[in-house]
Amino acid sequence: MRWLVHLRSEVLLITALAVAVPFGASAGVQVSSSPWGHTKEGPVEIYKLTNAHGVEASFITYGATLVSLKAPDRSGQLKNIVLGFDSLEKYLAPGVPYYGATVGRYANRIAKARFTLEGKTYQLATNDGPNTLHGGKRGFDKRVWKAEQIPSGVKMTLVSADGDEGYPGEVTAQVVYKLDDKNDLEIDYHVTTTAPTPINLANHAYFNLTGDPTIPILDHLVTINADRFTPVDATLIPTGELQPVAGTPFDFRTAHAIGARIGADDEQLRLGRGYDHNWVLNKTSSGMTLAATVTEPKSGRSLEVRTTQPGVQFYTGNFMDGKPSGLGSVYPYRTGLCFETQHFPDSPNHPSFPSTILRPGEVYSQKTVLSLRVVK
Ligand code: GLA
Repeated sequence: MRWLVHLRSEVLLITALAVAVPFGASAGVQVSSSPWGHTKEGPVEIYKLTNAHGVEASFITYGATLVSLKAPDRSGQLKNIVLGFDSLEKYLAPGVPYYGATVGRYANRIAKARFTLEGKTYQLATNDGPNTLHGGKRGFDKRVWKAEQIPSGVKMTLVSADGDEGYPGEVTAQVVYKLDDKNDLEIDYHVTTTAPTPINLANHAYFNLTGDPTIPILDHLVTINADRFTPVDATLIPTGELQPVAGTPFDFRTAHAIGARIGADDEQLRLGRGYDHNWVLNKTSSGMTLAATVTEPKSGRSLEVRTTQPGVQFYTGNFMDGKPSGLGSVYPYRTGLCFETQHFPDSPNHPSFPSTILRPGEVYSQKTVLSLRVVK
């Protein structure tokens, strides 16, 4: 009799849990969290999202960083397809190149680390030759975000003080990561400010769809949905021109292996040391647009990237040199590729580019979806 009572209460509990899953949430996605060490700013946690197919995305609150993403190959074998580390200590080492991190306030470069807004010139920190890169010396990637579990995901929030890295206005940034049972990982950004300031947030995951981070990404097949890109100068600042990709090694409107043309005799490839440029996405609306796809032919793993953002920085790991951390996991030359969906680099100094200025009362809102797929 007693077991029957137990059983009945369990059935009731299960029913209550099922009812508690809110409409629209992916019932199969489990979310868990645990402590992951400390920085001077405070404790860091890891959040794991796991769906019904075993796809698992893990994020740490340091840098709101994607530390691992386990994706199936064509036989269902799961492997981690993003570069990252297994301990916080390795992320804290100097020179770690933004593996999986949320970069901001301004992803990519601002020329001479300077811009003028409403008649006032702001001097930012230089951390990339004469320029500022990915938010400055201590950008959003090096801060501890506050996290909260939500259905099928995690919400991370960061407050950046007025004057942080030279930028005006107190900014509240929010990144929401959600997984579903279709193997889509959604990244949502919302930002508000107390004074006008440039905002450009991007995730800086390095993908290697082989699941083996010692294999270069040169055999990965890439398409980019763009007729034009923004050519750069010697310090990787856009010249302001929107150059047609037709007839150049930047034409990825049909699939090409990354390695097929990366060594071509081309001035822009020389300046980028490979691909490290922003493509101007072919947008038909302000909503989601396909940005890029990448497929790794041997495993069949494929990734589709959709976004509301106007551009994508396609970076082929040309600065990777096998020694960013010196603490264990060390990733060699071109073993990761990035699709950083974002606004165009140096927009605050290019009035002809889509504006990146956020004003009080407005909400910066962008979304990127990473769809894990397999091809036969
Ligand atoms: C971005 C830049 C690259 C490089 C990496 C980080 O993708 O465009 O030039 O700085 O980040 O190493």
